[in-house]
Amino acid sequence: MNIEELKATAMACKLCRLATTRKTVVFGEGNPNAKVMFIGEGPGATEDATGRPFVGRAGELLTRIIEKGMGVPRSEVYIANIVKCRPTVNQEMKKDRPPEPDEVEACTPFLLNQIKLISPRVIVTLGGPSTKFILGTKEGITKLRGKWGEFQSIPVMPTYHPSYVLRNGGDKSPLRRDVWEDIKLVMERAGIPIPPQS
Ligand code: URA
Repeated sequence: MNIEELKATAMACKLCRLATTRKTVVFGEGNPNAKVMFIGEGPGATEDATGRPFVGRAGELLTRIIEKGMGVPRSEVYIANIVKCRPTVNQEMKKDRPPEPDEVEACTPFLLNQIKLISPRVIVTLGGPSTKFILGTKEGITKLRGKWGEFQSIPVMPTYHPSYVLRNGGDKSPLRRDVWEDIKLVMERAGIPIPPQS
């Protein structure tokens, strides 16, 4: 199966209740031969509306980190989530919630196959839930960030979720600097030259 075939399966998925409230399936996007794969938790409202991962406010910050920080087009990396459909309490209230364990379980084969097909040099987990899922740990993100883990022999760098950075000061936050320190380690490991920062 190639990534397009996997995507076609995901687009038609009805394995969990999120299929009944989603507008679109947010499969993930990027270079199928990406050196770096970012993994978030699940789509929000903007992602659900557009079918693309990380395109809301948090996505804008992630895109800046990739394009301005790493100096590569966003289309060079691969961006995915643990669950491919927006977990929402109630469409009318437009309120998001974390995915339930059975929703994560139903969606897991999609992410595992994405990782297998893309076979990145490095995985970056964004935030606690994604890090816990990939590394199978209960440890919090503050302890784990900046330290290498491993998933199926692929180096994993946990870092803060861009939403968390935004809630705590955004671009001027010390957390933003921490993320950049983590990303520099990722680039070194993935063999991507670190551009001079302005
Ligand atoms: N937050 C996530 O974890 N994933 C997205 O795609 C958007 C926001």
